[in-house]
Amino acid sequence: MKVMAVNGSPRKNWNTDTLLKNVLDGAASAGAETEMVYLYDLNFRGCRSCMACKLRKEPRPNRCVLRDDLTPVLDRIHEADAVVLGSPIYFSEVTGEMRSFFERFLFQYLNYDDYSKPLSPAKKTAWVFTMNCPEAWFPQVGYREVFQRYENWMKLYFGHCETLLSMDTMQVKDYSRYHLGMFDGKAKCQRHETVFPQDCKKAFELGVKLAAR
Ligand SMILES: Cc1cc2nc3c(=O)[nH]c(=O)nc-3n(C[C@H](O)[C@H](O)[C@H](O)COP(=O)(O)O)c2cc1C
Repeated sequence: MKVMAVNGSPRKNWNTDTLLKNVLDGAASAGAETEMVYLYDLNFRGCRSCMACKLRKEPRPNRCVLRDDLTPVLDRIHEADAVVLGSPIYFSEVTGEMRSFFERFLFQYLNYDDYSKPLSPAKKTAWVFTMNCPEAWFPQVGYREVFQRYENWMKLYFGHCETLLSMDTMQVKDYSRYHLGMFDGKAKCQRHETVFPQDCKKAFELGVKLAAR
């Protein structure tokens, strides 16, 4: 049993990274082999639309043919039993790196002969999203729909997906040092002390579930 995490945050040891580490700790506690991939450490681009993965005569059909740092990662994820993707929300979306990864990850499996039957291997999957936004703002900003869309893609391609949200996160340790006037730094830090540990616990439990056969 192998569980992989793909981290779409540029910041190590911050919110997304901490949650993904908890997911992997949970998976390891259930006996899984684990691996974290930091997208910001890799040299890669999004899908080039070369269409080589759709060629009838391609010797390795339904797999991305681009050769860069993502190539071995995509190979390892293909073989893994479970994968968790984590990203902070940037301008109401996943980060650019996560989006580029996502294109490469899914397009190789896209089946234009029967769109509803992607050519991907079944696996357990999950999303971890972190954001400044408190849940109360979701109706205004439409995030619920964004997260649902990403979960639906994974469900369609891999047959399973769960989503963990960590909202109203702490963006900096000392709010007084920055122009961040719209935030109550004290409340943010307090939430980080009280609610974020609960999110970490949920992440650990998610890892245990991903590792279960
Ligand atoms: C470029 C940029 C854009 C952001 N846009 C949003 C946004 O649209 N909505 C939101 O809720 N948070 C936004 N944030 C805040 C991050 O999503 C939030 O701080 C997140 O928890 C950071 O994750 P990290 O600690 O793993 O880096 C943005 C942060 C940055 C740097």
